[in-house]
Amino acid sequence: MWTEMAAVFRNSKFSVNVNLALAYGTIAATMLVGLANISGVDGASAMYVFGDSYVDTGNFRDLSAFPPYGSIWPGYPAGRFNEGRNLADCIAELFDLPYPTPYLRLENNSEALRGVNFARSGAGVTYAYGLTALVSQVDEIEALVEKHVLTKAHLRKSVALVNIGVNDYHVRNRRGAFQEHDKEQELHTTITTIVDGIALSLVRLYGLGVRNIVVSNLALMACAPFVTEVTTFTSCSRNATLLTQTSLHNSLLQQRVKTLNRNLGGLHIILVDQTKAFEVLFHHGSEHGFENTMTPCCIGKAVPHGLVCGHNDTAGHPMYTLCEDPSKHVLFDTIHPSEAAWQTAVDLFAHVDGFTVGGPTLRAWMSKHGV
Ligand SMILES: *[C@@H]1O[C@H](CO)[C@@H](O)[C@H](O)[C@H]1NC(C)=O
Ligand SMILES: *[C@@H]1O[C@H](CO)[C@@H](O)[C@H](O)[C@H]1NC(C)=O
Ligand SMILES: *[C@@H]1O[C@H](CO)[C@@H](O)[C@H](O)[C@H]1NC(C)=O
Repeated sequence: MWTEMAAVFRNSKFSVNVNLALAYGTIAATMLVGLANISGVDGASAMYVFGDSYVDTGNFRDLSAFPPYGSIWPGYPAGRFNEGRNLADCIAELFDLPYPTPYLRLENNSEALRGVNFARSGAGVTYAYGLTALVSQVDEIEALVEKHVLTKAHLRKSVALVNIGVNDYHVRNRRGAFQEHDKEQELHTTITTIVDGIALSLVRLYGLGVRNIVVSNLALMACAPFVTEVTTFTSCSRNATLLTQTSLHNSLLQQRVKTLNRNLGGLHIILVDQTKAFEVLFHHGSEHGFENTMTPCCIGKAVPHGLVCGHNDTAGHPMYTLCEDPSKHVLFDTIHPSEAAWQTAVDLFAHVDGFTVGGPTLRAWMSKHGV
């Protein structure tokens, strides 16, 4: 049934209405009702991660497989797009769970039981950069269930993390899609397609047994370095398209999550407010120990690679400048937050009221649901 739904989803080019998924989900909920709520009180067994470079820990090794990435932790470039831990690592540590193994690095089936990270840098819900989209990442975990590597019972006791969406908007914005057809309706349709894509994947995870899911809302695009580089990282953008994308995406995602939590028995999704956490980091970073909130630590020396960190010239010398102490920067490179920024964001999600969308703190959610 879930494969069938995925096929519908793929064939319809992501335009299938989420109500369809909800119908499937409700059937599944009825079937599984006796099995719901059996997650242990001793914490989750493992973590399964889906999304983009904010959570990829080694699947898509691009420049992230070269220095200076990974230089602080784990001490070598393992495929994370910053100098240390990213959002997935910080959440795994909060949950006291093993770091999920990157899917493409799994060595045997038993390793999968300790957690798998399916995220791909550059991925989106829709096409994005042509990398393994969210729907394909869910196909991958589904295949592990079909092969009995993972069981629904195991997934029921596990926790999932989903962080995706920014690449969908970034690709479109760079193409200038909204400039050409700058119609309100079109913007709305695009956002709905992206958010419904996330919602459908959440329903599919539920069908595979997953009950506890941490979902992150959108990166604060207006202050993201790939947007602020035009002002040499001095001020956040006031571009109306960007602001609408962020606010509409977030409010629609909130609605979808609420509907899913209400309709799918035993499902507990918590929506962490990444947008708000980064508002704090960019605007009040000094209160959290940051000296430089807007300028990335690693910046490419323009030609021929733009401001991209990590390239060498033909003689093998770095084509980038690196700051002295990345922990004083919110941003590591021109796209990705530093480890210190992620740790602060996760601290806010976990311990401070108001950093999850319409929910308790992440810590309170964990104890309530035995994560
Ligand atoms: C699976 O692979 C991991 C990582 O290499 C290794 O530590 C573990 O011993 C292996 N388990 C089995 C059953 O082969
Ligand atoms: C706002 O951003 C969009 C997407 O990058 C762009 O197409 C548009 O030209 C920008 N609008 C203004 C007024 O700069
Ligand atoms: C750049 O040079 C360093 C030092 O020689 C080397 O370790 C690294 O692999 C090079 N990076 C790339 C992208 O080739």
